Amino acid sequence: MRKIDMKGDAKSHPTPEMWAAMNEAELGDDIYGEDPTVNRLEAKAAAMLGKEAAVFMPSGTLSNIGVVLSHSRQGAAVLVGDDSHIFHKGRDVMEALARMEIVGVPTQDDGVLAPDDVEAAFRRCEKDGKEVTLLSVENTHNLKGGLVLDEEDIAAAAEVAHRRGVPLFLDGARVFNAAVALDIPVSDLCRSADSVAFCLSKGLGCPAGSMLCADQDTVSHARVHKKNLGGGMRQIGFLAAAGIVALDTMVDRMAEDQAHAMRLAQGMTGIPGLSVDPDAVQTNVAVFEVMDYDVGAFIQGLERRGVFLDHQEGRKLRFFTHYGISAEDVEHTLEAVEATARELAAG
Ligand SMILES: Cc1ncc(COP(=O)(O)O)c(C=O)c1O
Repeated sequence: MRKIDMKGDAKSHPTPEMWAAMNEAELGDDIYGEDPTVNRLEAKAAAMLGKEAAVFMPSGTLSNIGVVLSHSRQGAAVLVGDDSHIFHKGRDVMEALARMEIVGVPTQDDGVLAPDDVEAAFRRCEKDGKEVTLLSVENTHNLKGGLVLDEEDIAAAAEVAHRRGVPLFLDGARVFNAAVALDIPVSDLCRSADSVAFCLSKGLGCPAGSMLCADQDTVSHARVHKKNLGGGMRQIGFLAAAGIVALDTMVDRMAEDQAHAMRLAQGMTGIPGLSVDPDAVQTNVAVFEVMDYDVGAFIQGLERRGVFLDHQEGRKLRFFTHYGISAEDVEHTLEAVEATARELAAG
């Protein structure tokens, strides 16, 4: 039975074009800046994002840690959304490494940080004697179901940060999905952010990697943190080669992932015992709730039919679509969802 894996969007395998480029990549020692393919990828990513420089990181987590450490001082604070990936996943490590505090700003239902809330967080830190050194927003917003922040949302956050003399970081693990959904160049979307990290390993379909794009100074600091944290790699031009192919060929096709997520949500609306809102699908994530059945039994029923998805929390499940998921997979998934619901309804 074919495995249809929509637990995450990092589940796809390299495209044939990536394999060919990986096979032929020119290599060098990246720790000394001598890998020509990594250097080409970094220059390309910086240009596409409209930033001065970029560094190839092993993961989105290390990009986030790298940029936060680059802007941290002992006893200071970094403001992030309280439902962001950084707040839920990277916070403890960052706080321990930099001896500063990650402060959560309330996240709106649409993933946006309201300027008034950001301003209030600045004032609270000021009152507590903590200097704020960075503000971070996330796009697309993972835990809000892949929702998109547009240029105005990002500019509004940047306005508060810059008025306070602080840079804005965009955790854009899926920022290309956002740009495709908005049908604008990613550089326009990221214009008011001072630094941006995006993942090569998610919707762009690479086996690994994340790019941190920023001004030269921030990137230089992040390179040092990458090395000190054990993220330095040697002849990795073959991974960078996949990244170059991804930036050339994998951006526009994300519209297909979005259409597949929409089809999944629409197809599930008629299935008894599930709650789903197709209007909430903005990118490559389709979220739904299992109302009338045991959630564990529902997941097992799907897995027996070859379909794997993410259990976000409680009754909430989600499908991430990606390059490895075809239109046929989507139809098979809808049949599996329907059959599982029918089976559980029959007891
Ligand atoms: C918004 C966001 N940022 C960062 C990351 C971390 O990326 P990685 O898994 O490459 O460490 C994720 C992972 O899902 C994410 O959703």
